[in-house]
Amino acid sequence: MVQKIGGFGINKIHKLDCLEGMRKLPDKSVDLAFIDPPYNVGKDYGIYKDNLSDRDYIELMKNVINEFRRITKRGFGIYLDWKQFQRYWQLVPEAEPIIIFKRSSGVIYSPLKIVQHHHVILTTAKSLKSQCRSLWDDIRVMGEGYLFNEKRFGHPAQTSLKATKRFIQNFSEEDEVVLDCFAGCGTTAIACKEIGRNFIGFELNPEYIKTANKRLTQDTLNIYNPPPTNSKGRTAEIIK
Ligand SMILES: C[S@@+](CC[C@H](N)C(=O)[O-])C[C@H]1O[C@@H](n2cnc3c(N)ncnc32)[C@H](O)[C@@H]1O
Repeated sequence: MVQKIGGFGINKIHKLDCLEGMRKLPDKSVDLAFIDPPYNVGKDYGIYKDNLSDRDYIELMKNVINEFRRITKRGFGIYLDWKQFQRYWQLVPEAEPIIIFKRSSGVIYSPLKIVQHHHVILTTAKSLKSQCRSLWDDIRVMGEGYLFNEKRFGHPAQTSLKATKRFIQNFSEEDEVVLDCFAGCGTTAIACKEIGRNFIGFELNPEYIKTANKRLTQDTLNIYNPPPTNSKGRTAEIIK
């Protein structure tokens, strides 16, 4: 098994700008990429303020997507909310959507007063299962407050581990290398560790990398909020 790709150690999150890192990776050098990108909505990621001009943001994402096309063997998945999904599909017309159904109690309307109850993974990778359903309706996502029962790690936009794991499991094989160039507090890294994949991550904020490394070494500890419990003391997971 290779220990380095393009000079980067595998199974590490490197403190580096996503494009700077990816431009050093050779063609077809990682198997799959999975990202939950910043949405350019002014979220405070510490070092990164998520407030580029619209033009610069689209330019950045076009470059990220082109790098994915160059460096991945199987393709890539992009985790999006319903609003981002519309513009990203124009950037990646070859992708297909997997809908993650949100049963959230909070009501978020589109401009036409349609209640939006979904997130989307746009994927260019081909499912390795004989069938991969396009609707995942058993996953709780961040933002669902009480109902989101995964551990939280003090990151403002942590991705669902369950969704991340399922994507990687369906679209890659054991021991393959998965890239997350917006690694945050390491959800993709944890998913890879738990299901026997290798990973490479890039992230700008060293505090998130520290948290990710803590998660990777102590992932059985709930170091921030414990999952919510109901009156009977049971966790609030809805089991399907
Ligand atoms: C939506 S979050 C990713 C969350 C991650 N999947 C997790 O569960 O922790 C986006 C991340 O991208 C990072 N980021 C933003 N611009 C970046 C860049 N140019 N290069 C690398 N990381 C960047 C932010 O600091 C933030 O942690």
